[in-house]
Amino acid sequence: MEEAIVGRDILPELAGALARHGIDGRLFVIADERVVARTQNKLSETLAASGYTVATYPVAAGEASKNLRQAERIYHWLAEQRAERKEAVLAFGGGVIGDLAGFVAATYLRGMPLVQIPTTLVAQIDSSIGGKVAVDLPEGKNLVGAFYPSLVTCIDISFLETLSQRDLLAGWAEVIKTALLFDAPLFNEIAARGPADLTPEFLLEVVPRCVRWKQKVVAEDPKEQGIRALLNYGHTIGHALEAATGYQTYLHGEAVAIGMHGAARIAKHLGLLGQEAFEKQQAVIAQYNLPLQYAAVDPAAIHDAIALDKKNRQGKVRWILLDDIGKPRIESGVPQTLVRQVLQELRQH
Ligand SMILES: NC(=O)c1ccc[n+]([C@@H]2O[C@H](COP(=O)([O-])OP(=O)(O)OC[C@H]3O[C@@H](n4cnc5c(N)ncnc54)[C@H](O)[C@@H]3O)[C@@H](O)[C@H]2O)c1
Ligand SMILES: [Zn+2]
Repeated sequence: MEEAIVGRDILPELAGALARHGIDGRLFVIADERVVARTQNKLSETLAASGYTVATYPVAAGEASKNLRQAERIYHWLAEQRAERKEAVLAFGGGVIGDLAGFVAATYLRGMPLVQIPTTLVAQIDSSIGGKVAVDLPEGKNLVGAFYPSLVTCIDISFLETLSQRDLLAGWAEVIKTALLFDAPLFNEIAARGPADLTPEFLLEVVPRCVRWKQKVVAEDPKEQGIRALLNYGHTIGHALEAATGYQTYLHGEAVAIGMHGAARIAKHLGLLGQEAFEKQQAVIAQYNLPLQYAAVDPAAIHDAIALDKKNRQGKVRWILLDDIGKPRIESGVPQTLVRQVLQELRQH
């Protein structure tokens, strides 16, 4: 089971966690070059001070780095240094780096120990936990990957201080998702705030809570054969919208916000979700400056992309819907006509 340590300014604790897991060779850090620049080598200096030998491979920021060519360059780098199976790969950056470095760690020498040091909100509460690692193909995102949990995930909220407001709020979409699925009290706390008062104290409460929810779901269903699919709330339309816009227009969290609004509309039309809960969800998404509607995309293109979702089974789309805040369900029988209607409603005119 992966160990997550969560807190503020906790990098000094990382060396101890590595030692607990028997990691004592060299450390191969695969890092977002933007994060390295912003943090002024804090990670490697802290680890070096604890006696570790650290080598860093900088990767250009952005989704374009998450592919097999980049993975191959990292394999060559590891080979040149004669990296050994008991030495660790550290992923230092957002979800792109976590997925890429995790994929490399899963495959090089048939697996090296993986340590995640996530630096975006998305990575801290979502991608660094649960062991999904992958790279993209031109044909689609995350098509080549593995389930490969980290040994240690070190979640230091102080990294979030340099994140752009847009990236931070995109991460809040996943926080809101977690609360809507599992945690009505957390939802109420989030609703009582807004982007202006996301203090470190509040983050120190929210981040570990979301981490625990993700760990709980993943522990029950590590390979996504059942309830892990719940984490996909908002992602059926969200992923389709991202694909239909060539991953250029929306950040993932923004697309998920629109997708959650779509799922809530579907649930309301089906008589599952009540008006009051629907309005509460809608208000919170807007309050965190996240979009509820899309523009400049053909709804038919989104509809086509929904049919290609990896999570469909035997051609049936498995929708995650809410009966209420904190009460999710999986629903395979949503009529196509209703999906088309909601995609029209979600379109900004
Ligand atoms: N494996 C999973 O379970 C899972 C879950 C969710 C998302 N993902 C993947 O994660 C990726 C999205 O993650 P993301 O949103 O973290 O994207 P990202 O890694 O591209 O990071 C977003 C931006 O923030 C910058 N950045 C990162 N940390 C920073 C910091 N501390 N200060 C300033 N800037 C910083 C990055 O350079 C980048 O420009 C996608 O590829 C998605 O497929 C995977
Ligand atoms: Zn997501």
